[in-house]
Amino acid sequence: MMATQQKNSAYYIELENQYGAHNYHPIPVVLEKGEGVFVWDVEGKKYYDFLSAYSAVNQGHCHPKIIEAMVKQLSKIALTSRAFHNNVLGEYEQFITEFFGYNKVLPMNTGVEGGETAIKLARRWGYTIKNIPENQAHILFVEGNFWGRTMAAISSSSDPSSYERFGPFMPGFSLVPYNNLPALEEALKANPNIAGFMFEPIQGEAGVVVPLEGYLKGVRDLCNKYKVLMIADEVQTGLCRTGKMLACDHEQVRPDILVLGKALSGGLLPVSAVLCDNEIMLTIKPGEHGSTYGGNPLACAVATVALEVLREENLATNAEAMGKVFRNRMQALMAKTKLVSEVRGKGLLNAIVIKPFDNKTAWDVCLLLKENGLLAKQTHGDIIRFAPPLIITEEHMNFACDIIENTILSL
Ligand SMILES: Cc1ncc(COP(=O)(O)O)c(C=O)c1O
Repeated sequence: MMATQQKNSAYYIELENQYGAHNYHPIPVVLEKGEGVFVWDVEGKKYYDFLSAYSAVNQGHCHPKIIEAMVKQLSKIALTSRAFHNNVLGEYEQFITEFFGYNKVLPMNTGVEGGETAIKLARRWGYTIKNIPENQAHILFVEGNFWGRTMAAISSSSDPSSYERFGPFMPGFSLVPYNNLPALEEALKANPNIAGFMFEPIQGEAGVVVPLEGYLKGVRDLCNKYKVLMIADEVQTGLCRTGKMLACDHEQVRPDILVLGKALSGGLLPVSAVLCDNEIMLTIKPGEHGSTYGGNPLACAVATVALEVLREENLATNAEAMGKVFRNRMQALMAKTKLVSEVRGKGLLNAIVIKPFDNKTAWDVCLLLKENGLLAKQTHGDIIRFAPPLIITEEHMNFACDIIENTILSL
């Protein structure tokens, strides 16, 4: 008789290793439960979640109000496809367009589909409204961008680990340096066929790169000057993460096309949305774009409540305040150790830069943080992003900062 296999972390990790693609390198922790700012592993150990599923869980794990809306809708109907109407989509569309102040929304599922949709809209607008010659429309991106893993997304990437040996690539894309308005203007001036400029108001995956104050306004002005659509990818920075509803709100700038995802469902299912005005949105006609799951009643019900929660619980204000607590604590820590060379971020999208020491890297710091009860993930080798759910209280923020401080000082 075979011995009963003990279903511990090692067991689950080995299963993934044996049967799953090796396209991720996770921190070795196996989670089975989440509530608010906490998650638990299969051994019952409790952790602060300082990644929030890459900012998809802004409202906290398993938010009761969002779960309630989801269960209520699930028991009625989850998916109709867009071949038929459903009685949730229209009200959601009205709600989200009024919420963000745009004429129309196009619902999709993942963030990367939102980006793809934005690019298709920009190209179509370019041909229809800007009179760009057929197949000449060009989209500008910035170096260090990250907007997903599809062929279009990696065709605009400057990160070799995203694009190497996946070519050939999508034509009609080029890159300018981030946070550099003169370079952007030069590129815009050089090519009259540019339809859109797509960028993140703060670069998340690049390691929480915050542009200089005035960059967003400058982008807006240049896009106006050269009649180019300003496309803000707020999939990670949006929905209160940086201390405002949108990161573009920090400079009171309104993009022409707004891409949202991640926390639009409070982390319950993939929901993304592209918002813009009629002049752009109505250039796409029936049958020219869509998705089987996009705009499904379940997603619409969940997204409506996920947005309501952001407002009702003042999560932008809390993110702003708790972000200050976090950065103050990390700056104080920086004064006590040579291992932390920089602290940066806005609201609750923050990062510290680790100076490699004794052959130890940010990855090793994350492993030790895990041992000490806090989950975070390094990016680009030497950067650790800290992005807890936005519902975090000051008391918990200070406990979590104690863990980070003690961990780093113990090295
Ligand atoms: C700024 C940004 N855009 C788009 C995406 C892609 O989202 P998804 O993974 O849901 O396709 C991400 C994912 O991390 C992101 O950070």
